[in-house]
Amino acid sequence: MSTMAMASGCVQQLQDLEPTTQDFESAVVEGLSAAVKTLPCKFFYDAAGSALFDRICKLPEYYPTRTELRILERHAGEMAELLGPEAALVEFGSGSANKVGLILSRLENPRVYVPVDISRSHLLAGAAALARAFPELRVAPVCADYTRAFRLPEVARSAPGRLGGFFPGSTIGNFTRPEAVEFLRQTRQTLGSGAVMIVGADLRKDEAVLNAAYDDSAGVTAAFNLNLLRRINRELGGNFDLAGFAHEARWNADEGRVEMHLVSRGRQQVRIGGQHFDFMPGESIHTENSYKYTIDGFRELASEAGYEPLRVWTDAKQLFSVHALRAR
Ligand code: TRP
Repeated sequence: MSTMAMASGCVQQLQDLEPTTQDFESAVVEGLSAAVKTLPCKFFYDAAGSALFDRICKLPEYYPTRTELRILERHAGEMAELLGPEAALVEFGSGSANKVGLILSRLENPRVYVPVDISRSHLLAGAAALARAFPELRVAPVCADYTRAFRLPEVARSAPGRLGGFFPGSTIGNFTRPEAVEFLRQTRQTLGSGAVMIVGADLRKDEAVLNAAYDDSAGVTAAFNLNLLRRINRELGGNFDLAGFAHEARWNADEGRVEMHLVSRGRQQVRIGGQHFDFMPGESIHTENSYKYTIDGFRELASEAGYEPLRVWTDAKQLFSVHALRAR
């Protein structure tokens, strides 16, 4: 990035809460030592994992990304209207901040954009891009774990208009229900009463559609899931045989979630650093959950977190929903 480009936008001083990421090794050892083996999903996104996830988003079977984008494109004007003039918009887990422009461009005289992300490099790249695209906007990046409440930058708190929150993607579905309630409560704490929160939530649907979305025919999702083992091999000196594990997506109707598993094809032992872990044939490592909601179910969850539902937008096939909530 050139310094010229940096200088043209209006990026405020970074507010750095110096979030600590849980150490990869201790998380892996803990997860694989449990009676039911798990690996934490937040470690999917190394460089290779992020590239694979970008490919997942373009797969014909993976409907969430493009469906949400269509909903945002179609209804951003109505979302902007709920936020009102001179608003300050806070994006939780902004990453490359490629969706928020749809709303910002429809807002009347938006004052401040606060991207929040744990990854400093993604955060600053996204902040610079937004400042270039919206020269009038003050961009006030916050490097923090967005699942915790934090103090908003002064420029955002003193904006004349309303405070808005933005949490697109179906990331809320990767939390358990209590975690999702807790996350929304924290955002309410951060934004304060009267704020308007815009959240994406994937909807329940035919099992076959869900299974295909999480186990595509080109095998990209399988490669994405298995990449976690490759990362353990590379970064922690593991000896996982990737051919010894099969990617599996399972719809769990009781829990209302798609579960991602890596299933051991046979009896095997895996070494990581000085430790070893035994696998029985068919034994799985549970790597992620993706909860699917009904519109009413999601509204109930939001209400437990201190929000009242304002509006909801979906696509014609009711695949995905975007909710506007007001903090009580
Ligand atoms: N947040 C995405 C989702 O739940 C993540 C995801 C998509 C994912 N495909 C996956 C995670 C496959 C693990 C395995 O839709």
